Amino acid sequence: MSAIRVNGRPSDVVPADDRGLLYGDGLFETVAFHHGRARLWALHMDRLMRGCAALDLPLPDSDRLLDDGRAVAEGRARCAVRITWTRGRGGRAYVPPDRPLPTSIVMQRPLPDDLDMQREAGIDLITVRTELPSGGPLGGLKHLNRLPQVLIGAQCRAAGVPEALVVDRDGCLVEALTGNLVIERDGRLIAPGPHPAAVDGVGLAWLRAAAGDALEQAGFRTDQLQPDDAIWVLNSVAGIRPVARLDGAARPTGRTLRAWQRRWAEDVEN
Ligand SMILES: Cc1ncc(COP(=O)(O)O)c(C=O)c1O
Repeated sequence: MSAIRVNGRPSDVVPADDRGLLYGDGLFETVAFHHGRARLWALHMDRLMRGCAALDLPLPDSDRLLDDGRAVAEGRARCAVRITWTRGRGGRAYVPPDRPLPTSIVMQRPLPDDLDMQREAGIDLITVRTELPSGGPLGGLKHLNRLPQVLIGAQCRAAGVPEALVVDRDGCLVEALTGNLVIERDGRLIAPGPHPAAVDGVGLAWLRAAAGDALEQAGFRTDQLQPDDAIWVLNSVAGIRPVARLDGAARPTGRTLRAWQRRWAEDVEN
């Protein structure tokens, strides 16, 4: 079975004038598949449909995307399935076509070899203070314009770390490079934000539903971080990873982390 499908067929070919490539005119989702099942599928589709409404893109047929996802994940115990949904071809430069014919691209990639290690031992982060395009109609969406993350990723590579704590010019926590942040303080969970420049994460939506009142959402500045605060990085594919060191300084794991990791494994990965 081909590991890439374009518009529902095995292929790795997309027209060179696809608007996704020319302008980042589209959306994406990265979905964890475990033994052929994607437990958080409905949450991913909710966000994708919200994105389509915001960008005035035709809605995909989610059953067909799921069929494609299953096809590319076939034979793999676990993998990440990336779904890209673009406005397709046409229009006049930035001006979109009247009746777009979207392109769907569905492909799989293996989860990182050291993911289980990262969950167990934690990951090292650097703080990256930056200006992110934020708010407006793109707030929270998983749109294709990801150059800020590419630049932050290059800083992570130079520092030899897998992730970053992304902070805006005012010192407010935004998110991580590839996930949302959760602070654990005295057993309480705080999700910084919602920040207009952050992706509205599916992993975080799961935690919100599972934790209820135990998860508070509040604006959070770096100068409010205390040495005893644990920091977690959460996304729908890697799950919950504790921060072992931030800018070289050790961080605690948090006393509820292991229980939440077990809950994640039961809900999302079995
Ligand atoms: C920039 C960014 N923020 C947050 C997230 C978390 O999103 P989700 O939990 O939906 O995977 C991701 C996921 O890759 C991301 O790339």
